[in-house]
Amino acid sequence: MPENTEEKREEAIVIIGAGQAASQAVQSLRADGFDGPITLVGEEPYAPYQRPPLSKAYLLGQFERARLFLKGDDYYSGVGCDLLLQTRAKAIHRATREVELRDGRRLPYDKLLLTTGARVRKLNCPGADLSGVHYLKTIADVDGLQAAFTEGRRIAVVGGGYIGLEVAAVAAKRGLQVTVFEAMDRLMARAVSPQLSAFYAAEHEKAGVTLRLKTGVEEIGGHGKVEWVRAGGLTYEADIVLVGIGVVPCEELAREAGLACEDGIVVDRNARTSDPYIWSAGDCTRHVGREGHAIRLECVQNAIDQAKHAALAMTGKPKTYSEVPWFWSDQYDLKLQIAGLARPTDTIVQRGDPASRKFSVFHLRDGKVAAVEAVNAAPDYLIGKKLIAEGTAVDPARLADTAIKIKEVVG
Ligand code: NAI
Repeated sequence: MPENTEEKREEAIVIIGAGQAASQAVQSLRADGFDGPITLVGEEPYAPYQRPPLSKAYLLGQFERARLFLKGDDYYSGVGCDLLLQTRAKAIHRATREVELRDGRRLPYDKLLLTTGARVRKLNCPGADLSGVHYLKTIADVDGLQAAFTEGRRIAVVGGGYIGLEVAAVAAKRGLQVTVFEAMDRLMARAVSPQLSAFYAAEHEKAGVTLRLKTGVEEIGGHGKVEWVRAGGLTYEADIVLVGIGVVPCEELAREAGLACEDGIVVDRNARTSDPYIWSAGDCTRHVGREGHAIRLECVQNAIDQAKHAALAMTGKPKTYSEVPWFWSDQYDLKLQIAGLARPTDTIVQRGDPASRKFSVFHLRDGKVAAVEAVNAAPDYLIGKKLIAEGTAVDPARLADTAIKIKEVVG
């Protein structure tokens, strides 16, 4: 296309991947003053929806499907965003700045945003593709799993991470017999401290869940459908298997287009990839975090904040991304809220008694709060997050003393 024709055309933005980050980017691009055409390409049949309720209230049957959607039906057309659902992008042609779709169509772009997210890691033992083996990532996955969720059935949960434990809690509540198989020696090892792992193990056992730590599943068997699971050399009868063994970033499109990828699409602190016309946000990215090293965050906070920063940069108002990461998990009546990223070498300060089911674990580094894990203790989480952002030094003895209100610990 000759240079002068291109200049006359209105600038167009294409977004690939229709999840939480994409929805935020559309809103932010409009709020930041971008008024050209936006095309959002998504392979699922749904407009962007929130995933966190899927393994919690939605699976429990206490959250209406309509409430999952981040925006109402008319939102995207109302803001001039063309939503191409059930549509898969096949390739990015950087030289001509076009996205090629699987059906052969080509979408020209001036700026491109990749919000392709992550996909579930698949179990690869014998029998892993038997009927009755489920994963949990999409609305369709939960609808399939829910149909199998009936009282008295036996569910084998593979993976004692966020997904596995949230499903275990819902299944126990619904009267299923639950066994969790976790490869590591403690639950949620990737995400929480040993103190929290021990607390959650005890809570799951109290709810009747059987835990098998340091136990990977070796084989799944049955006649046409799941009937048993072999793990740690023993055989367990099972009617359903739910696999939650982590996710892998969807970076293939980027990698095949020659963008820098290292277990995630590499972006700078303006969410820009190694191509100056392409940005990326959310679970699919790897960025240099506020502590100065490259990280890949799998959380709603990163999807939202990085998408906001991508929109700012795409509209010519770049702002350095350096937010405190936060996470949460609901299991039984326990609300776990985490801010910051802990390290094993941090000094631990416990505030409150786990037996009261309301306590928090603070992680101090160089005398400052680096991370907080709060169980049914929202004020500790909120103040902890603020202290992390501000880099405030705290007195460990005051922090541990619940007679002092959390907001009065400092100052
Ligand atoms: P995860 O990484 O949190 O947990 C996976 C667990 O599976 C780990 O404990 C790991 O040791 C274990 N594991 C791996 N291979 C295994 C094997 N072969 N046998 C037994 N155990 C094995 O990933 P998860 O739970 O699948 O969650 C997927 C994604 O969803 C993550 O990005 C997570 O952050 C996100 N998510 C976040 C939630 C939250 O923040 N509350 C809730 C649900 C999901």
